[in-house]
Amino acid sequence: MVYIRSFASDNHAGIHPEVLKAIERANVGDAIAYGGDVYSERAKRLFQEHFGDDCEVYFVFNGTGANITGLKAVTQSYHAVICAETAHIHSDECGAAENVIGCKLLTVPSADGKITVDQVQGFLHDIGNAHHSQPKVISISQVTEYGTVYRPEEIQALADFAHANGLYLYMDGSRLANAAASLGVEFREITTDVGVDVLSFGGTKNGLMVGEAVIFLNKALGQDFPFIHKQSLQLASKMRFIAAQFEALLTDRLWYRNACHANRMAKLLADELEKIPAVQITQKVEANAVFAIIPPPIVTKLQEKYLISLWSEARSEVRLMASFNTEDRDIHQLVDDLRSAINATHI
Ligand SMILES: Cc1ncc(COP(=O)(O)O)c(C=O)c1O
Repeated sequence: MVYIRSFASDNHAGIHPEVLKAIERANVGDAIAYGGDVYSERAKRLFQEHFGDDCEVYFVFNGTGANITGLKAVTQSYHAVICAETAHIHSDECGAAENVIGCKLLTVPSADGKITVDQVQGFLHDIGNAHHSQPKVISISQVTEYGTVYRPEEIQALADFAHANGLYLYMDGSRLANAAASLGVEFREITTDVGVDVLSFGGTKNGLMVGEAVIFLNKALGQDFPFIHKQSLQLASKMRFIAAQFEALLTDRLWYRNACHANRMAKLLADELEKIPAVQITQKVEANAVFAIIPPPIVTKLQEKYLISLWSEARSEVRLMASFNTEDRDIHQLVDDLRSAINATHI
């Protein structure tokens, strides 16, 4: 058995035991394919308890698929999506939005991963002008790619602005559970109640083996989604195995336990790193990520033992991620190894 402890990504974590058991329980007998099964029905009902009776929920394989199909449902090729320049849809999805939807992404510079109404406003000048892509969606990530978290009122302000100008608010909620746990709110307080129209809901980073959801809070927008779902290659035939995982995640607040734990581990790591003068934390630690500048030789030394990814090679800035399965001792061991490496290199 090879045991690896990774701080590079919450995607590196395994499957939560309660989720694994749910997959096993679902592996009994046969079931209707493509979402016509009881697991899908029950999981969707649980989502409706969280997000409101009036939402439509679809399961997909991955976060990129959720984002692209969710956005495709509300855009045409002549539309534009306004997002932070750090947004996963812009920087980490291999141009999938441009390729699959055909639309343009208009990016907003962002020091902390968030965007504001003031920054978005400037993009609306050319609405109605056939020479320009037409902004149709504002897309935000909750948690952001910098590990920061939008407050409910920040989301509401963006939603109000979007709706007043004929746009929709899309949320990449690949770490929505970490955001809700961080703010101490229920999902609907940062989605349904503050005007989000469509969102992706992450499962993989919070204990699932595979699976994300696309949720239409504005139900009318999801009308054509069944066709987009299939045509975009995201409709699983054995859907029950994705649904059963979500059922487990939304039962006994597993989503909350996992997210709280990951967030607490990141906070512990940040608290420990703050005591080390050679390390500089660069972003607020509001969820399960810690961004820090660590001298290059120390990063190299740590990488001999841990999976750690450089966020910015130029700044020697790393993104350290905690997961539902990170343990206190992992954090203390990493910090001890960091201190030893610093002492050995006399930094
Ligand atoms: C903010 C955010 N959105 C979306 C995704 C996409 O997820 P996937 O890799 O499953 O396509 C990621 C993955 O790391 C992410 O960090």
